Amino acid sequence: MCGIVGYMGDQPAYPILINGLHRLEYRGYDSAGVALLDDAGLHVHKCQGKVSDLERHVAGLGLGGTVGMGHTRWATHGSPNDINAHPHVSSDGDIALIHNGIIENYAAIKEELAHRGHTFRSDTDTEVLVQLIADIRRSEGVDLPEAVRLALDSVVGAYAIVVLDQRDPNVMVAARKSSPLVIGIGENGEHFIASDATPIVEHTKNVVYLEDGEIAVIERGKGLKIRNIKNQEKTPFIQELEMHLEALEKSGYDHFMLKEIHEQPRSIRDSLRGRLNLAKGEVMLGGIKDYEQKFIRAERILIVGCGTSWHAGLVGEYLFEELARIPVEVEYASEFRYRDPIVHEDDIVIAISQSGETADTLAAIELAKGRGATIIGICNVVGSSIARITHAGSYTHAGPEIGVASTKAFTAQVTLLTLMALMIGHKRGTISGSRFFRLLNELDAIPGKVEKVLRNEAQIRYIADIYKDATNALYLGRGFSFPVALEGALKLKEISYIHAEGYPAAEMKHGPIALIDEEMPVFVIATKGGSYEKVVSNIQEVKARKGKVIAICTEGDRVVRDLADHVIEIPETPDPLVPLLSVIPLQLISYHIAVMRGCNVDQPRNLAKSVTVE
Ligand code: F6R
Repeated sequence: MCGIVGYMGDQPAYPILINGLHRLEYRGYDSAGVALLDDAGLHVHKCQGKVSDLERHVAGLGLGGTVGMGHTRWATHGSPNDINAHPHVSSDGDIALIHNGIIENYAAIKEELAHRGHTFRSDTDTEVLVQLIADIRRSEGVDLPEAVRLALDSVVGAYAIVVLDQRDPNVMVAARKSSPLVIGIGENGEHFIASDATPIVEHTKNVVYLEDGEIAVIERGKGLKIRNIKNQEKTPFIQELEMHLEALEKSGYDHFMLKEIHEQPRSIRDSLRGRLNLAKGEVMLGGIKDYEQKFIRAERILIVGCGTSWHAGLVGEYLFEELARIPVEVEYASEFRYRDPIVHEDDIVIAISQSGETADTLAAIELAKGRGATIIGICNVVGSSIARITHAGSYTHAGPEIGVASTKAFTAQVTLLTLMALMIGHKRGTISGSRFFRLLNELDAIPGKVEKVLRNEAQIRYIADIYKDATNALYLGRGFSFPVALEGALKLKEISYIHAEGYPAAEMKHGPIALIDEEMPVFVIATKGGSYEKVVSNIQEVKARKGKVIAICTEGDRVVRDLADHVIEIPETPDPLVPLLSVIPLQLISYHIAVMRGCNVDQPRNLAKSVTVE
């Protein structure tokens, strides 16, 4: 979604801002803009389109100034056009503002400001906020930080903002509520601001994460001061960023998505490291230690998430029910929050989110927390909002995921859920010691097996070439493979724009079978294990209707090889671990089909990496 970058220091701001905006492109956006302050005052440039369009737009203007800010906008209020792009400027031309989030009461504020003679150029809620700040600054005779504070006090909604005023070119103000902001503290009094750490990491590792309701004032020569909305001063808490620049580069791959698919042996290994102790036969999850007893005694687990994280949650349902014998309900966070869900104080709610900023998941957590449940987070982004509002949790250690389509985050989430289910199942005595130890060893072997699956890429690319012009596709799986079928279909539709459906294989005959003809590719996860024979029957049903079957099967499976049009073999592993392997070929198939169709794989149309609006 929208991205923010800001800079104040002694270097030219424009190149830093543009570079930062490129780093933020992965979030998804439809327009971009910058505001710079120099001796001649405020200069704002913005346009619909990509950051490269903005660069063309300002080429030759020689933008100077050592303070400025940049924004990528993902349209919410008003269409994606030049006028609605950020920064927005007050009608007196003095104050510029960039904003992530939504001002919910903007209509009421706009009406009041209109009565007071303000006019508006754009359809955005953001312009209302900058006019409000300018109005307060003038009518109350206060400085910029105070005007921002007073304005934010009357605002309902979510925001991360940066504000500049050309009458005070040595001050930059930023504030957040329910939308993240991080401040980088560089050398020689330099400061960086960003909506996530990706534009900052190449400049400094010292960062301060703003808390909700905090306002940061960066003043040239005086540094960073933080106060809250009630005007109480806070001491900035400086942390070291655990992110490496290489993680933000494509490192020779054509796309971030491909790089991230190939990183999975590493990201799964990192998610297991220090948590799986084969010598002692133990799973240790330090982040949830304090809630372990509650977890063990839980009578029910609720899992909330969206999109791919919800699919990981479905795998979690099968894992916890089979291994720990605890009933599980998996909920779309967006549905959960708007029902009146039954939540008990002794429920464990597992909230899954790569970004840790998904608005619906955050709201679902607030709701469940308000009803007394214990919330365990599974997040990838350290210090994210979800990681902070949960009672406890475990990070997924997948490293930054830049491709919009989630790949390594999914397998890392499933890895964490497997560890949790194994640990709780073992402590509850619901799995035998021998099965527990066997699964620990098998889990430890998964990264090596993922490497093996990735070595089939040439064959997968060959299959992608055959089906790249399909207009529909069906994905089938049973048991642990049903959520993987959903995930495979989601991957294909979101990056290649081919319509795809995931189904429990047995459900096919209750409707989707009507779609099957010789044009229809049907991806079937048919690995040896629980419902293998049933899935083989489902393949026969598809073949009887001339559908094309691409089967993900266990190495050496002759039966499936003889039935299917194509097979992609994966190494043998116990059923609960199959999703960690079977999803890999489906990710690669989607990737190659999308590339062959000329789609923008890393930034698919209309999608955002972190969905901070409901
Ligand atoms: C799909 C995808 C999305 C996200 C969803 C939740 O590839 O990336 O469906 O999984 O928007 O995002 P997080 O996990 O950040 O809460």
